[in-house]
Amino acid sequence: MGYVLALDEGTTSTRAVIFSEDGRTVASAGQEFEQIFPAAGRVEHDAGVIWRTSREVIGQALGTASLTSADISAVGITNQRETTVVWEAATGQPVHNAIVWQDTRGGEYVAELREHAEEIAEITGLPVNTYFSGIKLRWLFDHVDGLRERAAAGEVLFGTIDTWLLWNLTGGVHGGVHVTDVTNASRTLLMDLSTGQWSQRMCQLLDIPAACLPEIRPSVGTFGTIAAGQLLAGVPIAGVLGDQQAAAFGQCRFSPGDTKNTYGTGCFLLTNTGEEIRRSANGLVSTVAYQIEGQPLQYALEGSIAVAGALVQWLRDNLGLIRTADEVNVLASEVSDNGDVYFVPAFSGLYAPHWRADARGALIGMTRFTSRGHIARAALEATAFQTAEVLDVMRRDSGYTINRIAADGGMCASDILMQFQADIAGCEVVRPQIIEATAAGAAYAAGLGAGVYGSLDELTGYWQADASWQPSITAEDRQQLLSRWSQAIERSLGWVE
Ligand code: G3P
Repeated sequence: MGYVLALDEGTTSTRAVIFSEDGRTVASAGQEFEQIFPAAGRVEHDAGVIWRTSREVIGQALGTASLTSADISAVGITNQRETTVVWEAATGQPVHNAIVWQDTRGGEYVAELREHAEEIAEITGLPVNTYFSGIKLRWLFDHVDGLRERAAAGEVLFGTIDTWLLWNLTGGVHGGVHVTDVTNASRTLLMDLSTGQWSQRMCQLLDIPAACLPEIRPSVGTFGTIAAGQLLAGVPIAGVLGDQQAAAFGQCRFSPGDTKNTYGTGCFLLTNTGEEIRRSANGLVSTVAYQIEGQPLQYALEGSIAVAGALVQWLRDNLGLIRTADEVNVLASEVSDNGDVYFVPAFSGLYAPHWRADARGALIGMTRFTSRGHIARAALEATAFQTAEVLDVMRRDSGYTINRIAADGGMCASDILMQFQADIAGCEVVRPQIIEATAAGAAYAAGLGAGVYGSLDELTGYWQADASWQPSITAEDRQQLLSRWSQAIERSLGWVE
């Protein structure tokens, strides 16, 4: 029996999940790691900790499943996207903490590039925003002494988290591969979306020496082999996808119009657009969905929401309103509605469809009647409202009807959220049996690359629904709720001058 191990490196935790050759989850292990907030708007990770926790969870998952390296046929990697690491080729030491996708530094470059926004969107499919790696990389080159010169000389390497892990897993200073996959590359602001290769023009606009960039490879195919002396030595890494694209792959969203929404730290709704790049006039991002070696690029339109589960974490860690993330559901079920309280979690500004860096969090509508339950409910509903906003644009800009969202990610375990999502989006929401779709996607991609799984059709056969929700409110009630949400959004905009 050939097993596949997925390494799922998310924004707040690192997980390893082992899948069987018939697509089932066999064992998993995970570790949360520290979020570093050096100043308002800044979010960093210690890349060394990410590498250490990755090794540890691999060992733990193998132990839980009572498996050894010999049982694992392939490894897949999936990761938080955009997060930027630069390290020394000779020592493997990062030159700075990793700058996380949510980090809003680099606003000055965004302003500077605004006059090229149209051209940049045409090349990369992306709006100019601090969210994307190119802005973070530019900031590092301008703030770490001598870094640009060292990059031009090939002494330091850039990578998103997939690249960092691939380099370390395949040997690091002793010959580690410096590669990325095309989905991760499509989030850097440096890749030409139509060719799947680095864009010279974008490197010029962002003043990035191309010598520090990894080679771009298809998502399903050969990346390298785990180096001697490590757990899983000799096992091929045969699939790599950014985590949102991995979730779409794990949910088998392989046909144009297929839509998934992943409720993680952030929330990301992706609609498959096949071989065609569709452009949005209203704040959606055009991105690569996946590429199988030797086959054409497959694309998606994405509605990116910065804060979803992160808001629940904030209620727990910053306010102490709950002790565990699950308690948010218990509190929310103490009330029958939001009591006219709305929570706009614009902690990193607002992403799609607004793309407003100057928005800030707003909790509005409270009276003496407001209870902890109302605030918990407003926090859950915030994710559903944001999703409804991007779904509305997705329907208009993609041309697809979309009457069904396949949900996944930790927060989709909340039945309250799923019902409200169906109500407010006005469509069916279906939850699969494997809600760890991100890990499933990485495993499926790697298993496909290594021949454990035979085809996309075989993978589609493994997908099974767990539960589904239908809209249960009237169109008038939906409209009323959406209009209150829009008013709350208006109030959160423009807080920063
Ligand atoms: O683009 C950021 C995204 O990849 C983060 O995903 O799962 O950590 O919310 P997640």
